Amino acid sequence: MKSTQALVLVFLALLFAWAGQIALGFFQVGKLEPILNEETNYTVPPVPSGLAQTGSRVFAAQGCLECHSLSVRGPTGSADIARGWGPRRTVPRDYLFREPAWIGSSRIGPDLSNIGIRLPDANELMMHIWNPRLKKASSTCPPHPWLFDLKVSGPIIEKEALPVPSKDWKQILPTYQAKALVAYLQSLHSDYSLPEAPLK
Ligand code: HEC
Repeated sequence: MKSTQALVLVFLALLFAWAGQIALGFFQVGKLEPILNEETNYTVPPVPSGLAQTGSRVFAAQGCLECHSLSVRGPTGSADIARGWGPRRTVPRDYLFREPAWIGSSRIGPDLSNIGIRLPDANELMMHIWNPRLKKASSTCPPHPWLFDLKVSGPIIEKEALPVPSKDWKQILPTYQAKALVAYLQSLHSDYSLPEAPLK
């Protein structure tokens, strides 16, 4: 083979890879826009609060994605919806305000795309982060006590203190990171309709 032929082949191989992975991806999802609901004047997907966006960093830093995915598959060939992981499949538009879009692949724990619907209560989420075994004795979700401050209990119990004492009767106060993580978990819900993924 002549060297010019080899060069053309190398060029074509690179061109196909670029077209398949970059150009095609761009044409499929690169121009997605949020949809404005003219009645409420809010967009879908909803814009997460600043606290929730900080919480997504905590989620990443704590390695929650090692065990939890953030993407519900459709009913064809998957039991995600039957398992109660969400009202509909996740589509690329759902990640518009998630930067970066964490999809996750490991499912040692349940998918969390709709944990904001399954466990909407901030206190329950907080208790889960402190120690998942308080609610479910067999839980293998790791506790995250370093996201809390322990403070000697005085006559006044702070409003934010978890409704359980620590082993040495100190009150357990969520740190800013724990609060942000809970706000993030609460922001995870795809209970809105999109043209490509309507709610049934
Ligand atoms: C070592 C793997 C692992 C890691 C890391 C992990 N989890 Fe879990 N998680 C699990 C498993 C397994 C379950 C299911 C058992 C249960 O319900 O407690 C679970 C359950 C949960 C649930 C309840 C889900 C439901 O549908 O009721 C929440 C919420 C949760 N995890 C949040 C988190 C958060 C937030 C982090 C990071 C701070 C995290 N997990 C890190 C394994 C993990």
